Amino acid sequence: MKIEAALQQYPKEDLTRTPTPLQHLPHLSTDLDVNFYLKRDDLTDLALGGDKPRKLEYEIAQAKAKGADTLVTCGSAQSNHARLTTAAARRLGLDVAVVLSHDQWHAIQGNLLTVYLMGARVEMIHTEDHWDLEEHALNLVRELEAEGRKPHYIPVSGTTPHSSLGYISGALETLTQLKEQNIIPDAVYLPFGTGGIFTAMLLTFREHGIDAPFFGISVNRNLDKCDANLEKWWAALCELLDIDPARPRGEFHLYEEFIGKEYGDPTEAGLDAILKMATAEGILLDPVYSGKVFSGFLSHHAKGDWGQGKNILMLHSGGVPAIFAYAGILEEHLRKRGRL
Ligand SMILES: Cc1ncc(COP(=O)(O)O)c(C=O)c1O
Repeated sequence: MKIEAALQQYPKEDLTRTPTPLQHLPHLSTDLDVNFYLKRDDLTDLALGGDKPRKLEYEIAQAKAKGADTLVTCGSAQSNHARLTTAAARRLGLDVAVVLSHDQWHAIQGNLLTVYLMGARVEMIHTEDHWDLEEHALNLVRELEAEGRKPHYIPVSGTTPHSSLGYISGALETLTQLKEQNIIPDAVYLPFGTGGIFTAMLLTFREHGIDAPFFGISVNRNLDKCDANLEKWWAALCELLDIDPARPRGEFHLYEEFIGKEYGDPTEAGLDAILKMATAEGILLDPVYSGKVFSGFLSHHAKGDWGQGKNILMLHSGGVPAIFAYAGILEEHLRKRGRL
């Protein structure tokens, strides 16, 4: 069965307007001597956009089929996923509760501000690592059950086998646009958080015979953990879509050196990447995901890996509301670069 037909078997909610644009960025392309294309998933139209609406369309369809009335999830204080799960719940008339880490970005700004505005039940937990919040979220699930609710738990970043179908669909959409615009990519740059987006897009491109190397820029985990996640989502997606998991994956590379000290660390290279994209094209990136992906590309470009008209495709997966929580750091960086 073709991957399109296999995907059709799965129900989805309607949470956002697609396709998102696939844009050629002319000034950056001239500056860097490449053809730079940006897939604008920051423009999905649910509560300031990003990758999550695509994922939640499939995940919430599963939840509703099981009769869920409340969505429960967890993440960092500036979690995009918490913002978009809250928005999706509101749009579909569900209740929502989020467990967030009381980390250094907990000012009522950016994503956290929007979560409060949309009226989620918020529990702030003092923990060093927001990836360890699951236990707290599962306690909340049990509490809600005891109150007679029917909660559905969505793990951190929203990645599950079913939610990853959203990026099978997103990748198919991108492939159609590449074909329409006569573009054969030479490289594909993507964020790698839990790896849901990366794995789904890699599988879809390979199923369609596109063999461009993939570059996954890790935003939090070391390479061992990224590899393990890729294995996990690859196996799960192949099972859902009836694809032989032993099929070749083609060339791909994962990088941990752009993370900085930890998840969410605003690296100097990431901040410079934000300034470069904003100044060249008037497009905003964020310090946690898209700025780091672009900094990965810029670093490879500076080493001479790309140039001479190569076709570079990067996914902008959103995350922009976080710039308001990072305003102080961005202000400092603007001063450092003589822009303030
Ligand atoms: C803006 C943004 N981009 C990328 C990701 C990472 O996606 P994945 O976990 O599928 O690798 C996230 C996850 O939270 C995100 O919020």
